[in-house]
Amino acid sequence: MIFLTGATGKIGGETARQLIEKGASLRALVRDESKAADLKAAGVELVVGDIADAETLRTGLSGAQRAFLLLPNGEHQEANEKQFTDLCRELGVKHLVKMSSMEAVAHAETPIPRAHWAVEEYIRGSGLDWTMVKPNFFMQNLMASAALIKEKRMFSLPMGDGTTGMADARDIGAVCAEVLTADGHAGQSYEITGPEVITFHEAAQRFSEVLGEPVKYVPMPMDKFRERMTGVLQPWHLNAVCELFREIAEIGIDHTTDTFKRLIGRDPISLRQFVGDHLALFK
Ligand SMILES: NC(=O)c1ccc[n+]([C@@H]2O[C@H](COP(=O)([O-])OP(=O)(O)OC[C@H]3O[C@@H](n4cnc5c(N)ncnc54)[C@H](OP(=O)(O)O)[C@@H]3O)[C@@H](O)[C@H]2O)c1
Repeated sequence: MIFLTGATGKIGGETARQLIEKGASLRALVRDESKAADLKAAGVELVVGDIADAETLRTGLSGAQRAFLLLPNGEHQEANEKQFTDLCRELGVKHLVKMSSMEAVAHAETPIPRAHWAVEEYIRGSGLDWTMVKPNFFMQNLMASAALIKEKRMFSLPMGDGTTGMADARDIGAVCAEVLTADGHAGQSYEITGPEVITFHEAAQRFSEVLGEPVKYVPMPMDKFRERMTGVLQPWHLNAVCELFREIAEIGIDHTTDTFKRLIGRDPISLRQFVGDHLALFK
């Protein structure tokens, strides 16, 4: 049995969907049962509660051979993920799969990648079998700009001329589902990108090509982004997101990886395909 966290979110939802297709036996931690009706209907056992609640996690992890750890970014992510790791060991879980990020490296300087790296190190020292799934920027992040793209044919983010190798959440979910069910992935860190390194100007070009009308990317000054998101995100989270976006703007990435193709056996979804698959949202 596999215990899932984050199963009502983007990557966890895709992971759960693809695990259900594989016929895996699943239990999921959810905060709001009404958001997990599809999971329940598909036979997933639900445990209702918060990741910070150790007793709820003991119930969820009891009898699980594998666990999937995905939490949204926030001030307590590192502490909650470390507690989750301790409980996996206490409850006899054999293999822990953690959602990390490609920016999480030993010399990471910004809060979110640093927290991921600290948890990775903690897990590596735990004695558990582990796999780190380390994706680049999600294409699905662009859905937050869908209304602007649809109505004004533009979008604006504080990423300057920075580059990403953005990947589709469906592909990342496929990787998670694979490593949670197949053997041979223990002790592996998998950096997952899409098929190309692009700037956000180039991302706008992909939208233009598929939508058949020019779409423009207008870089947003970081101060303006910070001002807009004040009150929307908690202060720790807002600062961490600004620092991460600044890192993308100033450093970005310069390569894609073939990890997805090696693991899943097909090319990763392109941004053109992503836009085409969500035409109603963007057009
Ligand atoms: N966005 C990117 O480009 C990117 C790239 C690389 C790595 N990542 C990493 O991916 C992770 C985020 O993944 P995502 O975008 O799939 O997340 P998401 O869509 O925001 O989903 C978060 C999930 O966690 C659950 N959750 C939130 N707080 C919880 C709590 N206190 N207790 C129990 N469950 C809780 C949510 O449940 P509810 O439905 O109840 O809210 C939801 O199922 C982060 O760790 C981030 O660093 C992101």
